[in-house]
Amino acid sequence: MAAMNVDELPEGEEKRQAVQAMFDTIAPRYDLVNRIMTFRLDVRWRRRTVAAMALPAGSLVLDLACGTGDFCIDLQKGGLRPVGVDLSMGMLAASRADAPLLHGDILALPIGNGVADGATCGFALRNLVELPGFFDELARVVRPGGRIGLLEVGDPQNRLIKTGYGVYFGKVVPFIGGLLSDRNAYRYLPKSASYLPPSAELLARLAEAGFIDVERELLTAGCAQLITATRA
Ligand SMILES: C[S@@+](CC[C@H](N)C(=O)[O-])C[C@H]1O[C@@H](n2cnc3c(N)ncnc32)[C@H](O)[C@@H]1O
Repeated sequence: MAAMNVDELPEGEEKRQAVQAMFDTIAPRYDLVNRIMTFRLDVRWRRRTVAAMALPAGSLVLDLACGTGDFCIDLQKGGLRPVGVDLSMGMLAASRADAPLLHGDILALPIGNGVADGATCGFALRNLVELPGFFDELARVVRPGGRIGLLEVGDPQNRLIKTGYGVYFGKVVPFIGGLLSDRNAYRYLPKSASYLPPSAELLARLAEAGFIDVERELLTAGCAQLITATRA
């Protein structure tokens, strides 16, 4: 497997393989490092996502790029029926969720058209090889009227917060990641945000893929962003 080159971010198949290998490596301590580096705010952001989707109890929700299953757990607590999908066997093996899990690439889901009532995706958009194809796949598997909730790192607009955020993710997170897990992987985290297109483009592309009511909410002063939408 290819190792992640964080100084020259990979593209295409090279990126897919490097992302998969990286998450296999950091899976055993992923939850611990996540909680420390976000001061547990990630827990609050996922719960906000589940609430914002406002799906009725019993809805079938695909958690795409489910990792160790945090979203699946919160979806279940919200009375929903999650199914997780992830590329990394290491992350799936470390899952604590009591939900069905599938190993696969979320750009080519082994799931029928319109089968899901909703879908979530947490902190994975920037890890994908392409976003338009993912949005098309989301539109294919989510039924008309179904809801999606996409959670990602943000870009704080307040200058002071932006500076602190940059120093924290650029210096402190790789240091903590290096102590507890893999430094290279946690150097990739801040750099990978540059894969994300401007938010207006992201929202426009979701609308083009077949979503309406596309909304973006900034969380914790823009440290994270939540995009919700309804399948037309
Ligand atoms: C930062 S982790 C987020 C995990 C989880 N969603 C969370 O909120 O903690 C990103 C996840 O995306 C997965 N991933 C990346 N590219 C993928 C792809 N093409 N198909 C499926 N999973 C993918 C990785 O294996 C990893 O588990």
